[in-house]
Amino acid sequence: MAQIIDQSLRPENILPKLQSSPYGVQFYRYYTETTSTNDRAKEYARAGFPEIGVIVAERQTAGRGRMGRQWISELGGGLWVSILLRPRLDPSQMGVLNLAFGLAVYRALKSLYNLEGLSVKWPNDILISNGKLAGILTETGSSQSRVNWAVVGIGLNVLRTPGSWEKVATPPAFLADETKERIVRGRILLQILAEFSAFYYSETFVDAVLTEYMQCCGTIGSNVVCSSQHGSVSGLAVGVDTRGHLLVRDSISGRIVSLDAKEVSLQKPLPNDE
Ligand code: BTN
Repeated sequence: MAQIIDQSLRPENILPKLQSSPYGVQFYRYYTETTSTNDRAKEYARAGFPEIGVIVAERQTAGRGRMGRQWISELGGGLWVSILLRPRLDPSQMGVLNLAFGLAVYRALKSLYNLEGLSVKWPNDILISNGKLAGILTETGSSQSRVNWAVVGIGLNVLRTPGSWEKVATPPAFLADETKERIVRGRILLQILAEFSAFYYSETFVDAVLTEYMQCCGTIGSNVVCSSQHGSVSGLAVGVDTRGHLLVRDSISGRIVSLDAKEVSLQKPLPNDE
């Protein structure tokens, strides 16, 4: 029987730390069980709640991943959290916001556990030893040319719980297998918020994120196969642009193609010598 890993996400334990932090968290909601923290966060967004909102659940009964995939999120399995933002960013910069969270999760795990072999797979999967440790699902609400809200849902696998893991697209990895340190999810959440807010409140948000992102993104410099409903592109990933799109040099035409994370699924990078 799976156990709740720790009590650190309970409001009485984390609220004093959030309230005394400079991260701008205005509200926190804790669910022992819900369908999806992204669903709850979207309700708060539509009801007019301010940024930054943090919504966590110990268990999700309908956890969602990118591309309509299921996200296994059982009691005791990990950190399931959604962050509500009202970004003062141009809609075209939302892809960079998406990358910023991958970067924040990467940096938080590095700084707390100093993990070897940790990398970001574009746009924001966190991989270790080729297993997927964390994934991020960003959803937005916009009107005309304005972003009203963004909900960034982060799922971090800590312990393997019973579930249909054989069906997930990328083999999972679990933090408890990667470190001997005690895992306190509240500390990880606070560190993610600290890392993110260092970028979010910066005047040079886009440049700062992209510069740091290039350092930790394992996709850049790898051969990739990208598929979307429009077809498939394979070639060398050479960078990301100011919209957060992946730039791939098409191996057939030699042209640089810009790929939007909303439309594209990236297959496992191929070895560069193939
Ligand atoms: C992915 O890699 O496909 C994204 C996974 C995102 C999972 C998190 S868990 C918290 C939030 N609630 C959800 O339903 N999904 C995100």
